[in-house]
Amino acid sequence: MTKQADKKLFIKTWGCQMNVYDSKRMEDILSPFGYKTVDTPEGADMVILNTCHIREKATDKVFSELGRIRPFKDKKAANDEQMLIAVAGCVAQAEGDFIMERAPYVDLVFGPQTYHELPEMIAKLTNAYGENRVVNTEFQGESKFDFLPEEHGSQGANAFLSIQEGCDKFCTFCVVPYTRGAEYSRTPKGIIDEAKRLVDNGAVEICLLGQNVNAFHGEDELGNTWGLGKLIQAVADIDGLERIRYTTSHPRDMDDELIETHAHPKLMPFLHLPVQSGSDRILKAMNRKHKADLYRDVIAKLRKARPDLAFSSDFIVAFPGETEDDFEETMQLVRDVNYASAYSFKYSARPGTPAANMQNLIRDDIASDRLARLQALINEQQLAFNKQSIGLTVPVLIERKGKKEGQLSGRSPYFQSVNIQGNERLINTIVDVTITDGFANSVTGDIALQETISKANA
Ligand code: 5AD
Ligand code: SF4
Repeated sequence: MTKQADKKLFIKTWGCQMNVYDSKRMEDILSPFGYKTVDTPEGADMVILNTCHIREKATDKVFSELGRIRPFKDKKAANDEQMLIAVAGCVAQAEGDFIMERAPYVDLVFGPQTYHELPEMIAKLTNAYGENRVVNTEFQGESKFDFLPEEHGSQGANAFLSIQEGCDKFCTFCVVPYTRGAEYSRTPKGIIDEAKRLVDNGAVEICLLGQNVNAFHGEDELGNTWGLGKLIQAVADIDGLERIRYTTSHPRDMDDELIETHAHPKLMPFLHLPVQSGSDRILKAMNRKHKADLYRDVIAKLRKARPDLAFSSDFIVAFPGETEDDFEETMQLVRDVNYASAYSFKYSARPGTPAANMQNLIRDDIASDRLARLQALINEQQLAFNKQSIGLTVPVLIERKGKKEGQLSGRSPYFQSVNIQGNERLINTIVDVTITDGFANSVTGDIALQETISKANA
């Protein structure tokens, strides 16, 4: 494919931050070929739906979005113009052939591991090779990270960086090992170079991403293996970078070096550490490879390393065979840990996963009742956490305009959503804010008299 006149690219992204990262990289790949990102599919030359397969109705959502976009493609075709429609991401990986069969107007299907080949795939479709439709969902021996171009332009003050992909844990409910493939870690050098470029382009916070990010085991030029703790310490040495986060981790991979690294002032005191259930019986059926007490121990060690560390988690209720006693053990774990926030879901059978064949499914009314009880407890803890912050002065990375007039919205070190009144010029800077009130999902505050304006504003 050669550089051509400007073309319009529309990408819609569902799911986790890794998909957000992948979508950005697709923009980077296509930008040298004249593709500019637009915010509506109408009139676009290329539409990419970057999909998520983790929970139910994923495929339905994709088909309904495809139905919405199809008339725009027809309209272009009536003017003798082409709109390419691509389905990418984990639904594409899992159900590529089905999508091609059911939606004949989809031109291209590709999985999370093949998008570095986008220019070639597009060239095939735009007749350079005379192909009409392309499916590219192989898991290749090579890594896409060796082929991706450098990032173009700024991602803003708050950037994502994928360091690890895939998962070898095989929790029985989860599609990730099948859609994202085997666990793979990038090299420390590749990651640090990318982090430096992000900082040069204005990032003050970097979130290191991976499906199982603390299983990271990147090999350096000398053949030494780095764990996530060592990597975070090296990234923290980058001048101008002020905040580091990472997500999503597994309790089993929380090694001592990583736990100690939580004392580092640049590593933010908030950790998303999914446990899924508080019952050892259910954890076993989920193949989580840890017991509830191991999780409690890890939390205690982390709190010792960083006493103000705030926690979040994911929970699945009504996994096949879950009794009221099992569920009560989950509630007890939540009471013991005391979360700053958490996500909870009703179990949904994902085709192709081992749990999809399990018996003893839980009735939906019981599942809904358990979910409501768990969410009530989590909301209570979230509210208490946010109320408890009243009076604290914390550095807030201002990310965007808020919903109300004159309002700005950002994140505290504890990942709370913080709303303040302030000038738009403060967006992408770190400002000291005194928290004045706390709610279930956010806090409000006032800019403290002594402002800390970060490098991004220099
Ligand atoms: N059913 C319900 N929730 C699920 N998750 C993953 N798979 C399923 C499933 N089959 C949840 C887990 C995971 C989060 C990203 O999504 O809690 O941590
Ligand atoms: Fe899925 Fe996470 Fe389990 Fe891996 S560790 S199988 S990504 S839930």
